[in-house]
Amino acid sequence: MNKILANDGIDDSGKSKLQEAGFQIDTDNIAQDKLEDALKSYDAVLVRSATQIRKEIIDACPDLKLIGRGGVGMDNIDVEYARSKGIEVINTPAASSLSVAELVFSHLFGLVRFLPDSNRQMPLFGSSDFKSLKKQYSKGIELCGKMLGIIGLGRIGQEVAGIAFGIGMKVLACDIMLNETNIELQIAQEKISVSLKTVSMEQVLKESDFISMHVPFKKGEKPMIGKAEFEKMKNGVYIINCARGGCIDESTLIKALDNGKVAYAGIDVFEEEPTPKPELLKHPKVSLTPHIGASTIEAQERIGLELADKIIEFFNK
Ligand code: 3PG
Repeated sequence: MNKILANDGIDDSGKSKLQEAGFQIDTDNIAQDKLEDALKSYDAVLVRSATQIRKEIIDACPDLKLIGRGGVGMDNIDVEYARSKGIEVINTPAASSLSVAELVFSHLFGLVRFLPDSNRQMPLFGSSDFKSLKKQYSKGIELCGKMLGIIGLGRIGQEVAGIAFGIGMKVLACDIMLNETNIELQIAQEKISVSLKTVSMEQVLKESDFISMHVPFKKGEKPMIGKAEFEKMKNGVYIINCARGGCIDESTLIKALDNGKVAYAGIDVFEEEPTPKPELLKHPKVSLTPHIGASTIEAQERIGLELADKIIEFFNK
């Protein structure tokens, strides 16, 4: 019987499917420093973003045949190294796109009406201050008609564009792989088709009222958005990062929030996870979530089933 360790958990849908297909699947989380030993008795390991599968673990576990990432980003796995050792590495690139895109709009809708700050302030104020808070939050804005800049027009970026069009936003998108390319977007469950042509990053930075990041990032790389990129943006731009901590330089972002260059930011991912910078966590102009882009019932069910199908196919080859 093939043994699988799902170290960051797996949805019941995928777990049951694997068990029915005759796999033993363990879901107890093993601490990172104990993983090298524990994994020696497993044929496959499944992770989300928390567990790191690096060269040392791969070298210590020669019987490991498959590494599965339940999700998109594989920056926590030494993918090329694993493949060079003959290990199959899989992920579920499409299963969570819609959930991440909806989280982007949770941040956007919340920020334009001050929900994060209002939720922080209202419990601290007595009922006599209700009116002053009403006044404080009286200059909200609508998203409809505004320009959304999308940096990275992969699956998630395209879902974001689809929702943006659906609520009447204008969209500018750039993608390092797509130079002035026409993308046909299927939106509203494929009922509407919209054509979107990519532009330069320069144009996205200069002309957007809101910017959402949808690019991969590996620790050690240069952030895609740093001082020079902030300088090109409109004053009072809003920035959303539900992609990877590090693709925006956090210290520069904090300065830009303090001096008003950036009006508000919605941040789901952090340079240092799971211990983000306190200046960011406490910032009154930031809407925060703890890396939950893919954490919906629907996305996790799709991820679990896709992983199970791929694993069954691999071991039955
Ligand atoms: C991903 O890359 O799929 C997302 O960042 C989700 O990560 P998670 O599975 O750890 O929630």
